[in-house]
Amino acid sequence: MYNKLLSVIVCILLLFSCSDESMQHRSALLQYDNEIDGILEQMTLEEKVNMLHGKHMFTSAGVERLGIEDMKYVDGPFGIREEMEPDSWTPLGWETDRATFFPTGSALAATWSPELAYQYGTGMAREARLRGKDMLLGPAINIQRIPTGGRTYEYLSEDPLLSSMLSTAYTKGVQDNGVAVCLKHYALNNQENNRGNVNVIIGGRAMYEIYLPPFRAAVEEGDAYGVMAAYNKVAGSWCSENDMLLNRILRDEWGFAGMVVSDWGGVHNTVQPVMSGLNVEMPGSRFMGEALLDSVNAGIVPEEIINQRVREILRVKMAIEPVPEEEANKEITSQPQQQKIAYDVACKSVVLLKNENILPLDLTDRPVIAVIGDNATRTMGLGGVGAGVKTLYEVTPLEGLKNRIGDKAEIIYAQGYSDDNYGFGRMFRRRSEDEIRKEQEERQLNIKRLADEAVKTAQKADIVLFIGGNNRTVETEGSDRTDIKLPYGQEELLARLAEVNPIIITVLVSGAPNDLNIAEPLSKALLISWFNGTEGGNALADILTGNISPSGRLPFSWPVRLEDSPAFALGNYSPGQGRRDIFAGLVEGNSAGDDTDEEGANSVQKDPNDAYYSEESLVGYRWYDTKNIPVMYPFGYGLTYTTFDYSAIDTDKEKYGKKDVIKVSVEIKNTGTVSADELVQVYIHRINPSVEWPYKELKAFSRVTPEPGESKTVVLDIPVRELRYWNETTHSWTDDPCDIEILVAASAGDVKLKKQVTLK
Ligand code: BGC
Repeated sequence: MYNKLLSVIVCILLLFSCSDESMQHRSALLQYDNEIDGILEQMTLEEKVNMLHGKHMFTSAGVERLGIEDMKYVDGPFGIREEMEPDSWTPLGWETDRATFFPTGSALAATWSPELAYQYGTGMAREARLRGKDMLLGPAINIQRIPTGGRTYEYLSEDPLLSSMLSTAYTKGVQDNGVAVCLKHYALNNQENNRGNVNVIIGGRAMYEIYLPPFRAAVEEGDAYGVMAAYNKVAGSWCSENDMLLNRILRDEWGFAGMVVSDWGGVHNTVQPVMSGLNVEMPGSRFMGEALLDSVNAGIVPEEIINQRVREILRVKMAIEPVPEEEANKEITSQPQQQKIAYDVACKSVVLLKNENILPLDLTDRPVIAVIGDNATRTMGLGGVGAGVKTLYEVTPLEGLKNRIGDKAEIIYAQGYSDDNYGFGRMFRRRSEDEIRKEQEERQLNIKRLADEAVKTAQKADIVLFIGGNNRTVETEGSDRTDIKLPYGQEELLARLAEVNPIIITVLVSGAPNDLNIAEPLSKALLISWFNGTEGGNALADILTGNISPSGRLPFSWPVRLEDSPAFALGNYSPGQGRRDIFAGLVEGNSAGDDTDEEGANSVQKDPNDAYYSEESLVGYRWYDTKNIPVMYPFGYGLTYTTFDYSAIDTDKEKYGKKDVIKVSVEIKNTGTVSADELVQVYIHRINPSVEWPYKELKAFSRVTPEPGESKTVVLDIPVRELRYWNETTHSWTDDPCDIEILVAASAGDVKLKKQVTLK
C-alpha cells in the first residue's frame, strides 16, 4: 500500500517536473505521422534498417521503390563544404562547389545579433540547396568551456543565453529555407583532445543550466529537425547511445521529434544506440547495418523501435524541400546575396579591445602604413582537421586594406613571422642529429631574416599594423591548444618592432583568446577580427578606417593567464593520454570507435578519460566574477568610436510573480560624435537566495544605435521563469523567490546601473 502510494506520488512529481516547457513544444514534424503510418506499412524490415546507417560518406539511404530519396548531409557550420568522392574524403576538385565562407562561430556570437544569426542560417540553407543538400551539419553550439578548446572558433559562446538566442535564430534561418539543421555536438563535447574517449562527469544543475540550453532552445523554440550525437561519453555512456541524453532529455523532456545522427565514426554498439534514440550511424554500417538486422530478427531489438527510428527520419524528409538532383550544382555555390550576409556579420563582429586615440586611422597626410604579419595575407577558410570551406574568394586583411584605403596611404608589407619555421603540422621522419641541428639553425636564420625585414619595414612607416593571432592549424578540430600564447614568435617580433616604431596597432585573427601580457602593453590599439569569412578583410578595413564603428562584443571572457580559467585553475581539464584522434582513425580507414588504451592507461588509478566538471556552473564570467579573479577583458566587452551614457534604469513593477515578465528600461545616450551601436546587457545578481548562484548571470541584451547627441530608451524583457534553477532532487525547474539586483551593464565588468526588485 505504502509502495503504491509512493509510486503515485513519484508519478505526479514526474508529471509536474517533466518540464512544463516540453509540453508546450509540439514539433511541426508530428503533422506527418498519419501519412508515415501508410509508408511504414509498405516497407520491408530490410528497407527500414537500410535507412539507419550511412550509404556513402555523406548520404544515408531512402527507399527508391517508394520514391523516398536518400538523405544528403553537408558540413557546416560556417560554409558549405566542398564536394568529395562519395566514399572517401578526397575532394572532387569541382569549381562550382566554391561556397561562401561565413564568419566562424565565435565571430557570429560577437555580433550578439539573433537577426544576423537568422540571416546566416538563411544564407547557409540557400547555398546548401544550390548543392542539393537536405541536412546541414550545423550549427555547432557547444559551450566554450576552455580557452584552449580546438573548436572554440566554431562554437558560439561561454554563455548559455547568448548561445541559445543565436542557435535558435540560426536554426530558424536554415529551416525556414527548406533545409534541416543538425545541432552539434550533443552534448558536452567541450574539448577536442581525447574527444573520442573523454567521459564527462557533471552535476545535473550545471548540465541543465549551462551546457544544454543552446540545444534545448534550438529544439523547443527553433523546432530543430536534426541533432548530432557527440563523440564523447557523458556519465559513462557514449553520447550516441546515451539514454539519458537522447531518450529522456531530448525526446521526452524537450519534445524533439526529429532524427539523431551520430558524429562520424561515433557509434560503438548495435542495440544500445537504436534503443536509446539514435537514428543514423554515420558513415558506414558497421553497427547499424547487418548487425542491427540480425538483432531484430533475433528478437533483441523490437521492430517497433525500428519503425519509430524510421518514422523520425521520414518526418524530417517530409518537412524539408529537397532539390531534385538534376537542378543541383548548376550554379556556383557562393552567391552575392550570401557574400553580403557574410560581410554584414563580419562588420558587426570585430571587437575593439583597446584604443589610445589612434583609431580610426587618420589618413589626412597620406601616412605610410607597415602591415606586418603572416595573418595579413593568410586565408582561413580551410585548415586544420575537418570541416572547412573552399571559398569562391576570401578577402585577406591586406587586400581589404588596399581595397578600402587605395592611394590615401602608402601600404608596405612584411610577413614578419611564419608557421613554417615552427614545424606545426609537419610529417616527421627519422633524422640524424646532424640533420636536426642543421634544420634548427636554418629555422633560426629564417626567423631572424623575416623579423629583420619586418623591423626595416616598420622603421619606414608612420604606423605599424601588426596582423597576427592564431590560424586554422593552431585552432583545429581533433586537438586543443596546449596554451594560449601567441604562436610563431609573435611576442618577440612585436618587442623588436616596438623598439623602432612604438605606434603599433595589433589585430588578432583568432577564434579564441590569446595571452596578451606582452602584446597589450606594446600596442596602442588592439582588435580581434576572428576567422571572419569571405569578406573579413573588407570588414576589418572598414573598421580601421572608420567607415564603420566597431560594435562586436566578446562572447567569452578573456583570461589574463590560462591558469586563471576554471578548468585549468581546478586542474580538471583532462587531455587524455595521447591517443590518435577518433576522426583521424576514420580517415585512415581504421576502426574509429577503438577505445582500447594504447598507452596502458588502465594501469593508472584515476581514469585519464574522466573529465570532472567540478567548477559546475562557474563557467566563463560566472567563475571570474564569483571568485573575484581579474580578467584581461570581460565577457561582453568591446569599445567603439563614440561614448554612451546610461541613465534612468526602471522596471515596470517592484515585485514579480512566477509567471511575470520583468520589463527593464534604460536610456542610452550617444555622447560622442559618430554613430555606433551599443550593446546593452542585463545581468541578475541574487541578494538573498535559497540556493547557491554564480555572482551574476546574463538574462537579456539588446543592440541600440543612437545617433550622436540622441537618447534612446531600450526595454528588455526577463521572464521570471528564466530565473529558475535546475533542482537535482526533484529533477525540475524550481523558483527561488528572493530579492534580486538588476544590473544594466556594458559588459560583465562594467555595470552601469542597478535596481533591486523582488521575486515573490
Ligand atoms: C566532426 C563533425 C563533422 C563530421 C563530418 C566530425 O569529425 O566532429 O562536426 O560534421 O566530422 O565531417
